[in-house]
Amino acid sequence: MFEVPKIKSAKGKVKLKGDKSISHRTLIFSALSEKGERTKIFNLSSAKDVLSTSECLKKLGVKIHISEEYAEVEGKGLYLSQPESIIYAGNSGTTARIFSTILSAQKFPSVLDGDESLRKRPMKRVVEPLRTLGAKIWGKENGNKLPLVFEGAEKLKGGKSFRLDVPSAQVKTALLIANFWSNNIVKVKEPTLSRDHTERILPIFSVNVRCDSDGFIWCEGKPKSPKSIKIPGDISSASFLISLGIINKNSEVEIEDVLLNKTRTGFIEALKNMGAEIICEVEKEESGEPTGRIIAKTSKLKAKTFSGEIIPKMIDEIPILSCVAVFSEGIFSVKDAEELRVKETDRIKAIVENLKAIGIEVEEYKDGFAFEGLGEKAREKLKHEYYIKSFGDHRIAMSFFILGSSINGKVFIDDVSSISISYPEFFKDFEFLMEK
Ligand code: S3P
Repeated sequence: MFEVPKIKSAKGKVKLKGDKSISHRTLIFSALSEKGERTKIFNLSSAKDVLSTSECLKKLGVKIHISEEYAEVEGKGLYLSQPESIIYAGNSGTTARIFSTILSAQKFPSVLDGDESLRKRPMKRVVEPLRTLGAKIWGKENGNKLPLVFEGAEKLKGGKSFRLDVPSAQVKTALLIANFWSNNIVKVKEPTLSRDHTERILPIFSVNVRCDSDGFIWCEGKPKSPKSIKIPGDISSASFLISLGIINKNSEVEIEDVLLNKTRTGFIEALKNMGAEIICEVEKEESGEPTGRIIAKTSKLKAKTFSGEIIPKMIDEIPILSCVAVFSEGIFSVKDAEELRVKETDRIKAIVENLKAIGIEVEEYKDGFAFEGLGEKAREKLKHEYYIKSFGDHRIAMSFFILGSSINGKVFIDDVSSISISYPEFFKDFEFLMEK
């Protein structure tokens, strides 16, 4: 049981480690670059998930050296070495989905596995399209769950266009990179745009991304190292600090050199819509991504309903947005977010259960939930002792940590060790901003 420390106001300027999604992609494309080409990666994420990607690549014979200053990856080309043991993706969905393509196209058989949470998450969304490209994959529930066995096809057939049922950057990336190993084009189209980091970073690795008149995208060419690349700060990690600045009195939090890609800033858009005082300034481009500063100040919030195209742009931030909404006036609701049920845990269930645990009446839907915020007086109104379950999910743990730190009641979280999955510096940054 972890007792959440209290904060009265949050003040200060913070720089964050590199964005997790971009870090995975940078490591992978550096590894698949031409044999012997070295890539220096500055500001790589220190998240455990990113370490999982790095360990998977190392098992497949890629040389990676991570130091304080930068990470260096030696390109091995598209064909990696046969591993001695299973490829273990840990808790990381992005690793599992992208490696499904990489392992399908190697010259050797392999096994991909993950932790208890990852073993429950759907893999059919990548396995089925990969099979139509000629990949031979076996696994539980006809290949829907890890562990998966890949025969290794060496070449993928290609010549297919895939229309995704749900926007997913992981599936989009897995299918786009199938083009590296296929003779014919593999195209993909999403119902609405998910995070577009792969489309932005591939040209930096000399791979062109094309789009046809029907909106299907594909890529052409094989990765070549850009030699050096710097990753902007993680906007999902930033969302927790921004929230502290908004829900606490006399607060002002500034985040420097942070990713400001519009496919990721739905959380900021939503908060502004609720009346939050946030300034975002794009200052430069880094790894093909708009990067800049965010300033967030104490704000009076009005609850709103969020649905449709904004949902994929804030999919990972819905837990923290819901915790912030407790401090808003009126009915807050989220719809069209069924994807939350297949994240690290069923995040709709986790949000609803934990809000109920602090005494809020919540209505749960298949694709979202609704509740009435407590308004500006939430800190004073929430004065009892509350017990939160993290469900082993880093974003649930951090969201309720932020909420718990900003109310008068005592809050206990069953386990906060999962936080290092995406944001190992969380406690340090929280303490730095904290005015006791
Ligand atoms: C990610 C994509 C998102 C997101 C995940 C990271 C990525 O998942 O939830 O945390 O790096 O591509 P989906 O693409 O499955 O929606």
